[in-house]
Amino acid sequence: MNDRIRTDIAHNARVWNYWLGGKDNYPVDREVGDRVTSFHPSIGEVARADRAFLGRAVTYLAAEAGVRQFLDIGTGLPTADNTHEIAQRVAPESRVVYVDNDPIVLTHARALLTSAPEGVTEYVDADAHDPATILAAAGRTLDFERPVAVLILGILNFVLDTDEARSIVRTVMAAVPSGSHLVLTHPTFDAELGGEGNIAAMEFWNAHATPPITARSRAEFASFLDGLELLEPGIVSCARWRAPDGAEVAQYGAVGRKP
Ligand SMILES: C[S@@+](CC[C@H](N)C(=O)[O-])C[C@H]1O[C@@H](n2cnc3c(N)ncnc32)[C@H](O)[C@@H]1O
Repeated sequence: MNDRIRTDIAHNARVWNYWLGGKDNYPVDREVGDRVTSFHPSIGEVARADRAFLGRAVTYLAAEAGVRQFLDIGTGLPTADNTHEIAQRVAPESRVVYVDNDPIVLTHARALLTSAPEGVTEYVDADAHDPATILAAAGRTLDFERPVAVLILGILNFVLDTDEARSIVRTVMAAVPSGSHLVLTHPTFDAELGGEGNIAAMEFWNAHATPPITARSRAEFASFLDGLELLEPGIVSCARWRAPDGAEVAQYGAVGRKP
């Protein structure tokens, strides 16, 4: 086992994997995952809705917007439909760079490196707090003269300072050209989406698991998309993005295009 992997405290990537029905988690992750579920019973649906949103957004970007490059920051453990599989199903030549800082994701990264021969996948072990390093590493695989879809799903919630979170997004989006996209999800306490359950759930998480998490309001979420053209249907529960019948979850989702 990678000696950076700690099995005495729950880690987000592993608990997320547990909620998605995966097997790459430890007893401590399942215990914390179950306790969080007791505070916020729909958390498993949040995880599934987030992945389904990723599927719809990447399919749209590859099939309709013609995007062929993807930078997926805060990838998570490999699961059923990873970004490169979705994109390369539409366009086998798609190039995908994955980034995460959890040692367990690094250990399983091989499963993300199964690119179609026409395309490329790469994995970068890096921290979202350091976008310059991410961009330098991604620039070895992606051509920043051509549009890039930047995926930041369920990870800005681990950047506790909102100004810093905005600055990370701005730095990454400044490096990519017009026609690039930002795909974003984020949990909320907003009652409009039934987010009240997140209050006790996140309090419990922050006392027993890592990394610490925060929720954001609709206005804060919107501020991450400043300067981008919001694609229809705008900012909605990620379960409802281009899926009008989806059962709402307390996780905002949106896609913005760089003009
Ligand atoms: C909730 S999961 C989301 C996974 C995937 N993006 C999805 O939507 O299904 C968040 C991921 O972000 C990663 N993460 C958290 N903080 C990070 C940081 N500072 N830098 C890089 N990755 C981070 C975690 O390890 C975890 O894999």
